Amino acid sequence: MKYFITGGSGLLGERLAAVSNDNDELTLVHNSNPKENTVKCDVTNEKEVFESVERENPDVLIHCAAMTNVDLCEDEVELAYKINGDATGYLAKAAEKIGAKIIYVSTDFVFDGARGYYKEDETVNPEGIYAKSKYEGEVQLQQYSDNWAIARVSVLYGWHSARPNFTSWVVNELRHKREINIVTDQINSPTLADNAAEAIFEIAKQDKKGIFHTAGNDAINRFDFTRKIADAFDLDDTLINPTTSEIFVQKAPRPRDSSLNVEKVERELGMKMETCTESLRRMADMEKDLY
Ligand SMILES: NC(=O)c1ccc[n+]([C@@H]2O[C@H](COP(=O)([O-])OP(=O)(O)OC[C@H]3O[C@@H](n4cnc5c(N)ncnc54)[C@H](OP(=O)(O)O)[C@@H]3O)[C@@H](O)[C@H]2O)c1
Repeated sequence: MKYFITGGSGLLGERLAAVSNDNDELTLVHNSNPKENTVKCDVTNEKEVFESVERENPDVLIHCAAMTNVDLCEDEVELAYKINGDATGYLAKAAEKIGAKIIYVSTDFVFDGARGYYKEDETVNPEGIYAKSKYEGEVQLQQYSDNWAIARVSVLYGWHSARPNFTSWVVNELRHKREINIVTDQINSPTLADNAAEAIFEIAKQDKKGIFHTAGNDAINRFDFTRKIADAFDLDDTLINPTTSEIFVQKAPRPRDSSLNVEKVERELGMKMETCTESLRRMADMEKDLY
């Protein structure tokens, strides 16, 4: 199968490439951070999107590119909607034109977090510009494509060649014996990018349509997750101080509990979504092979 993967220079794009099957052909797309074996395409440029997609002629587009800095989206509202919303529409139209399937990677932040453990068919209520613009992407996807799927992930983590994410940042801080303050009142389903990538390829291969929560198999608060990171990497967890969102103020609103129910993925795709204990062990084992 031939895949066109936006966000190829990002965390999930890299891990999709890492877990892909040898028989699969991948076109990995970058924008401002070129990497070996990636092609340039600014997804906010509709003409460039159509030209790239028609040239590569994939069976499936996996759309990971996004403005992922949640707080920056509050300052750059127009750009956030352009990248997360409109660009998804361009890719959906381009996929439809060549008869390809499109899988859009979305977020647990489409939920307001009032209840948690959300199923795919539950009502969304995004709060903040990142969440609203990502949801706009979900809307435009369905407006312009007849063969679409949405893969929602949560607190994505794993090894990336250039940029830190929450987990790799924690590992680095604790290895340098630096104290960190982590909130106890934000609950998510932290997702190893490799495990999400495996689920996304299953959606493609089994030609599934609709919404899937391709997330980690836990509902865990950030403080407890951080303690699990320390445990998996054999680091000093006394350096982790509990705090709350009231003290640790962030610009964009964060859902209180946006954890995702992964039963549909396990049932319909016939695969297991890992708990964070399993995923963190996998990530720690991976480090020995990677570096
Ligand atoms: N990270 C999380 O905790 C999290 C949680 C929930 C959902 N998600 C979703 O998961 C997906 C993957 O996230 P990630 O953490 O892998 O992202 P990431 O590492 O932050 O990478 C973002 C990617 O988007 C690309 N991009 C940004 N603007 C672009 C543009 N105008 N044209 C083309 N490419 C552009 C970047 O390319 P360049 O770097 O080359 O510019 C980069 O490859 C995103 O859709 C995100 O919304 C992430």
